[in-house]
Amino acid sequence: MPPVESSELIELQIGAVANGGWCVARHDGRVVFVRHTLPGERVRARVTQETKNFLRADAVEILEASPDRVQAPCPFAGPGRCGGCDWQHASLPAQRRLKAEVVQEQLRRLAGIERDVVVEEVPGAPDGLGWRTRVQFAVRRDGVIGLRKHRSHQIEPIDECLIAHPQVEALGIERKRWPGATGVEAIASAGTGDRLAVLSSRGRARVPRMDAPVRLVSGKREDKPPFVREEAAGRLWQVSGSGFWQVHPGAAETLAAAVLDTLEPRKGDIAVDLYCGAGLFAGVLGEAVGSDGLVVGIESEGQAVRDARFNLRDLPHVSVERGEVEQVLDQIKFGRGKSTLNRADLVVLDPPRTGAGRDVVKRVAELAGRRIAYVSCDPATLARDLAFFSEYGWTLSALRAFDAFPMTQHVECVATLIRG
Ligand SMILES: C[S@@+](CC[C@H](N)C(=O)[O-])C[C@H]1O[C@@H](n2cnc3c(N)ncnc32)[C@H](O)[C@@H]1O
Repeated sequence: MPPVESSELIELQIGAVANGGWCVARHDGRVVFVRHTLPGERVRARVTQETKNFLRADAVEILEASPDRVQAPCPFAGPGRCGGCDWQHASLPAQRRLKAEVVQEQLRRLAGIERDVVVEEVPGAPDGLGWRTRVQFAVRRDGVIGLRKHRSHQIEPIDECLIAHPQVEALGIERKRWPGATGVEAIASAGTGDRLAVLSSRGRARVPRMDAPVRLVSGKREDKPPFVREEAAGRLWQVSGSGFWQVHPGAAETLAAAVLDTLEPRKGDIAVDLYCGAGLFAGVLGEAVGSDGLVVGIESEGQAVRDARFNLRDLPHVSVERGEVEQVLDQIKFGRGKSTLNRADLVVLDPPRTGAGRDVVKRVAELAGRRIAYVSCDPATLARDLAFFSEYGWTLSALRAFDAFPMTQHVECVATLIRG
């Protein structure tokens, strides 16, 4: 087969959507993963990468458009431009259908599970714009700020990000110069209006005048790093520096409700919140199981543990263990009166994108009694882990998917597992 020159133009008939914001096509018998297109389209595409097994390409001319195609609202979206969004050129209902197809396909292929999936809207961004409350900007050597291009270290300078929350935009970060900085993270709470910028640098960086605290990442432990207060599930949550919090303003509330709804906690239950971050699920479960119950959160990041303990200080039956889930799970025992148990009624796990992996799944399968809720931002690692759960005797009983990242390929899922 003749090699395809990078940047060569090829004509393609576009097939199904694939995980990662791509659609699949074929060229000379080879698979091509194509961006900036939609299933059913005919396009002229520029090859951006050739590997032994497949090509990657950007659709640069649409010869036959899908009825789902719309004009991208953002002027920085498009082939070779900002890599932050993947589906600006699709209507919102189409974006959700594409994400549902991806989740279905990953479940089928990696876990052998056939299931219809519906991706639900998350309240707070009806047009899919103005939702992102945390944005990681990159800075060029000359101090110009922007967002990274797709699969590249190159920076697309921007002066506004349409998916950023208005509180992030109010910081004015894109309209300032940041000499010496390598990155600036903008953090804003939609609920409380708290704002923060976290600046990383090569050495000395000049901080422009801002009307919000700017934290310089020094590598040293800070006794009191700046934080924002977030509102969700009727409580206030302190989240320090770049600690994890859902970026869509409606996501924390929606996911907390979905986890409670599916786990159906009872008074007196023992529950475990793995990868607990600032303590969101431990907090709502702590309230639900009451003071006769017990909740243990596990989190590896020191500052997140301090935040979670502070956030849950009014719930003495909720505790937070610091450490890697992989290690802490092996030691965990729940004290009740004089007895100790190594079984929990309920487990919620919300791992990073890499998922939990076989060892953690095995331990969770042994630990959990009644129900497990698996919160995931990556359908591929979720599907892989569901296959492990099935080997250890747990079955997927329900799956909800949420559009917590409109305009992007990302989707958040809450899977419920029961024994048997
Ligand atoms: C997706 S966040 C979930 C946070 C929380 N459930 C929430 O909704 O706000 C994942 C969290 O897991 C933590 N983490 C990552 N790897 C870990 C590990 N091996 N053991 C424990 N915590 C880990 C991260 O620091 C992060 O706070």
